[in-house]
Amino acid sequence: MAEIDMMRLYPKTKRNIDERAALITPEQRQLARQFGKDFFDGNRLYGYGGFGYNSKYWHDTVRLFRDHYELAEDSSVLDVGCAKGFMLHDFKEMAPKMTVAGIDISEYAIANSIPDVAEFLKVGNAKWLPYEDDSFDLVISVNTVHNLELADCKEAIKEIQRVSRKHAFLVVDAWRNDHENERLEKWNLTALTKMHVDDWQKIFAEVGYTGDFFWFIAG
Ligand SMILES: C[S@@+](CC[C@H](N)C(=O)[O-])C[C@H]1O[C@@H](n2cnc3c(N)ncnc32)[C@H](O)[C@@H]1O
Repeated sequence: MAEIDMMRLYPKTKRNIDERAALITPEQRQLARQFGKDFFDGNRLYGYGGFGYNSKYWHDTVRLFRDHYELAEDSSVLDVGCAKGFMLHDFKEMAPKMTVAGIDISEYAIANSIPDVAEFLKVGNAKWLPYEDDSFDLVISVNTVHNLELADCKEAIKEIQRVSRKHAFLVVDAWRNDHENERLEKWNLTALTKMHVDDWQKIFAEVGYTGDFFWFIAG
């Protein structure tokens, strides 16, 4: 289990945190939490503001995953919170023999997923992964698990551990000081569990998670 920034090649977005905090209403946060069209392809104030494929996002990061975890041509990868499947598309493009699978709670995202991996994606909840124990060489979950209440979050992390036979990598909303905590509160739309990095690590230990992890920090 290691803290490792596997997202270091992922492009950083320019965020106007104060502007969002000033403009957004509780109703819009509620709308975002439904993970429907409004969240992915609606107004940028309460979501992505248009969630389309662009190779600049995952192209380099999937190569980093492959090299770091020494994945083979035919390894298997699960993405928990896969949205429209863009990361898995890039895995397949890099290594066509890989087995990929994705799961996401959003019917909208799965229905509008990128066609070449659509057959590998399912609608489902991270807290009940519909896969056998030890199914995947690498399970990745980026900015997803924190969208559950703490008790469910623990279930989801246990599930990630259960279906992984080798590696796992998790990114969650977190903070290290009051400033980052305030910034996260302002920026966050959907997370139900936001914790200090040390508290996350206690949860990982409590549920027996042995994978790697990193933080989404609203700096
Ligand atoms: C911030 S997006 C991240 C998407 C993708 N992992 C990425 O990094 O681009 C969060 C994703 O988590 C999904 N999600 C939220 N709650 C979930 C749950 N309980 N189980 C599975 N997916 C969930 C949302 O639908 C959304 O696609």
